[in-house]
Amino acid sequence: MAKKSNKKIVDILNIDRAYELAAIIQYMGHHYEVEGMESPPLADEFKKSAMDEMKHAEDLGERIVYLGGVPMQKPTAIKRGGSSVKMVKDDLEIEYKAIKRYKEHIKLCDKLGDTTTRRMLEEILAEEEDHANTWEGILKKR
Ligand SMILES: [Fe+2]
Ligand SMILES: [Fe+2]
Repeated sequence: MAKKSNKKIVDILNIDRAYELAAIIQYMGHHYEVEGMESPPLADEFKKSAMDEMKHAEDLGERIVYLGGVPMQKPTAIKRGGSSVKMVKDDLEIEYKAIKRYKEHIKLCDKLGDTTTRRMLEEILAEEEDHANTWEGILKKR
C-alpha cells in the first residue's frame, strides 16, 4: 500500500481510538456509579462494555503501529453520572455515533484498498451494534 493512504488510514484509526478511549472511561465510570442504584446486571453490562471497548482500542492501536503511526492516547469527551436511565441514554448516544463513524471508515478503507483494516473495523462495528441493541432493549423496559 502507498504511504499516502497509510497516513490517511492512521488518521481515521486514531480518531476511532480517541472515541474508544473515551468509551472505556465512560463505561468504567458508569460501572462504579450505578452500583447500589440498580441490580447487578446493569453494572455487569457496563463492565463488559468497558472491556469490549478496551479490546477495540487495542486492536486499533496495534493496526496503527503496523501502519507506521503512533496510537492516540487522548480520549474525546466523557459523560458521567446521573440516573441509571441517563447513563444508558448517554451510552446509547456514543454507540450510535460509533456505528455511524465505523460505517464511514469502512467505506474509506474500501476506497483505499485496505482490506485488512476494513475487516477489523467490520468486526468492531458488529460489536458496537450489539452494544446499541443492549441499551435499546434496556430503555424499552423503562
Ligand atoms: Fe468500541
Ligand atoms: Fe461500543
